[in-house]
Amino acid sequence: MQMPLATEAITPVPIPAPTVASFDMTMHSIDDADSLWVVADKRRRIQPKKYVPSGLRTLDVPHTYEPTLRDDAAKAYLKMFRAAKADGINLVVQSAYRSYSTQVSVYNGWVASLGRKAADLQSARPGYSEHQTGLSVDIASATAGCTIQACFSRTPEGKWLTKNAWRFGWHLRYPNGKTSITGYKFEPWHWRYVGNDLAAELNRTPQITMEEFFGLPAAPDYAR
Ligand code: DAL
Ligand code: ZN
Repeated sequence: MQMPLATEAITPVPIPAPTVASFDMTMHSIDDADSLWVVADKRRRIQPKKYVPSGLRTLDVPHTYEPTLRDDAAKAYLKMFRAAKADGINLVVQSAYRSYSTQVSVYNGWVASLGRKAADLQSARPGYSEHQTGLSVDIASATAGCTIQACFSRTPEGKWLTKNAWRFGWHLRYPNGKTSITGYKFEPWHWRYVGNDLAAELNRTPQITMEEFFGLPAAPDYAR
């Protein structure tokens, strides 16, 4: 059908400004240890130091150390584990929730074998580990080796996680090349549950850290 020619001046209709879906960065606290978005790093100790999360739950999934996480993170891990399995990817929980006292042993173990300086680049001091929130999990491959090594990123499990973990609410907390911000070497195995909204938002920027996203100071080392 041919459109009739306009014979009168057309009243311009205002074009609404495009609505950019704004992300509410204040939706959850980044200070409260119970918060899904809590940011723990070398400059932001967990409060209180010996915090114990409520709602811890132990999963029935392949693991090396006890696969215990906070309930919301546990549910998300299970979903991800099943989706991965359907794709032929076999995830193993290497380490999940670690209490303050477990972190004492883990950290001291690294110090004994590597010395304090090198240990600090890969293990949090007690009271500073995200694992203490019940929201972090170290994931390994059932078959490919490279457990807790940078080469994990090149295993089928590592690649799958890089591509898909965000869809289940997980964020790569210690990306490659961000040691000056996070204080830790690249940890392609360490995934932090932040929920679907924040994970999707973070995933828009490759290799972004929580410190950068929330405009927090870099945490390359401990203040004292
Ligand atoms: N490996 C991480 C930094 C931790 O010990 O929490
Ligand atoms: Zn970890």
